Amino acid sequence: MTTGCVILAGGEGKRMKSERPKVLCEVLKKPMLGWVLDAANKFGFDKIGVVTGFKRELTEEYISSRTETISVYYQKQRLGTGDAAKQAIELIESVDCVCVLCGDAPFIDEETLKKSFEYHQNSGADVTVITAEIADPTGYGRIIRKDGKFTAIREQKDCSPEEAKICEVNSGAYWFNSKALLAALPKLTDNNANGEFYLTDCVEIIGKAAAYTSENPDIVLGANTRQGLLELNEKARRNVFERLMNEGVSFITTDGIIIGADVEIGCDTLILPNTVILGNTKIGKNCEIGPNSFITDCNIGDNVILDNVKATQSTVENNVKIGPFAQLRPGTTIRAGVKIGDFVEIKNSDIGENTAVAHLTYLGDSTVGRGVNFGCGCVTANYDGINKYRTEIGDHAFIGCNTNLIAPVKVGENATTAAGSTITKEVPPNSLAVERGHTRIIENWQKNFERKKK
Ligand code: UD1
Ligand code: CA
Repeated sequence: MTTGCVILAGGEGKRMKSERPKVLCEVLKKPMLGWVLDAANKFGFDKIGVVTGFKRELTEEYISSRTETISVYYQKQRLGTGDAAKQAIELIESVDCVCVLCGDAPFIDEETLKKSFEYHQNSGADVTVITAEIADPTGYGRIIRKDGKFTAIREQKDCSPEEAKICEVNSGAYWFNSKALLAALPKLTDNNANGEFYLTDCVEIIGKAAAYTSENPDIVLGANTRQGLLELNEKARRNVFERLMNEGVSFITTDGIIIGADVEIGCDTLILPNTVILGNTKIGKNCEIGPNSFITDCNIGDNVILDNVKATQSTVENNVKIGPFAQLRPGTTIRAGVKIGDFVEIKNSDIGENTAVAHLTYLGDSTVGRGVNFGCGCVTANYDGINKYRTEIGDHAFIGCNTNLIAPVKVGENATTAAGSTITKEVPPNSLAVERGHTRIIENWQKNFERKKK
C-alpha cells in the first residue's frame, strides 16, 4: 500500500496582516508549514506534495530550503480546499492512499497520523476524517453524526444553531482511498455560504466515511490572527519544557526562555533565564546555558558553561567554558577544555583542546592548536578588503597581549609573540617574535614639571 501526503498551503490568511503566506507564520521560529512537513516526514509517506497559491514564490523558497523531496502544485485562484486538493491530482493518482493536511495546523503529529491510518485501514472506509473534541468549536467544521454514524462535515457558516453547538470538529486532516477521492473531486460544487469548493463535502459524496477522534485535541489548532499565533507559540513553548523536564533538564524559572521543538538537551543541564535555543541544536548533559544566551543550530557537548553567549552553527566539545559576553559565529569548533572569556568573537575557526582565549579577542578563519594562550586584545586580521585568509597557530604557542596576526600567517608550536606585535611573517616553532619600537626615555621632560606647578 503506497501512501502520499498533500499539504494545502495556498491560502492568504488576511487576518494575519502579513505580506507573507499564512503557512510561513512561525511557531517557535519554525514556519507552520515546517511543523506539518516534519510530522509528514516522521510518518514516512512515499510521496509528499504541497499546494501553494498566495505568494507562492515565498512558500516555494521555504520548501526548497528543506532537504526532503517535495512536489509543488500551484493553485491559481483561492477557490477553496477542494479546489486546492484538485491541483495535486498527479500525486493522488500515483498512490493507493492519500492523507490531506492543512499547512496552517502545526500540531498534527506522527502518532495521530499513524493511529488514524491504522483506523482508516481497519474501518474499511474510503475516507477517514481526523477529528477532535474541543471546548470552543468556533470557526471549525462540525462533525455531523446521524444515530451515532458520521455523515458529514458542516462549516461554521453553513451550520444550523443546533449543529453549531457540536464540539467535535474537523481537524482538516483526512485519509482518502485515492480512487474515491479522484471520483469525488469533480463532483464538488461551490454551493455554500462561502462560495468555495469545500474538500469537506467529499465526505457526503464518498459516503463510506469514518471519523477518527484524536487523543490529542491540539492537533486541530490553527491561527488566523497574531493573537492566535501567540497562543500557539505559548502552547508549543510549554510542550517543549514538558518534554525536556521529562528528559531531566532543569529550569529555575522559564521566564524569557524559548526552546525550539527540535532541540535536544541532556539530563542535569540547567537553562537560565532569557535564553533562546533554536534550530537543530543539541546540548549535552550537565551544562549550564544562560542567562541571556542565544544558541542556534549548535552541537554542544557535556559539562559546558555558556554564560551570555551568542552561538550560531558551531560545535562546542565537552568541558568548555564560554563567556560572559562572547560570540561564536558559523563554522566554529571549540575543542574540549577550552576557556573563552569576555568580549571574544570567534568565526569559522577551530580552537584546539585546552586553549585559553580569555579577553577582548577576535579570531577569524583560524586554526589554533592545543594549549595555546591568547593574551588580552589579540586580533587575527583575516580580511584585506577583498579576500579572507587563514591564520594557523601551533600547539602551546603564547600569543602576547595586543598581538595582530596579519593573515595569511603561521605561528609555530611553542612560539611566542611579544605583546603589541603586529606579525606579518611566519614565526618558527620555539621562537619569540617581537615587532615593536624600542622604548626611548627622555629625562626631565619639562611639560610635566610645569603641569605639576599649576
Ligand atoms: C478548514 C475546513 C474545516 C476545518 C479547518 C481545520 C474546509 C472547507 N474547512 O477550514 O472544516 O475545521 O480547516 O483547520 O476545508 N487553502 C488553499 N487554497 C484554498 C483555500 C485554503 O490552499 O483555496 C489551504 C490554506 O492555506 C490552509 C488550508 O487550506 O492551509 C485550510 O484552509 P482554511 O481556509 O484555513 O480553512 P478553514 O476555514 O480553516
Ligand atoms: Ca484554517
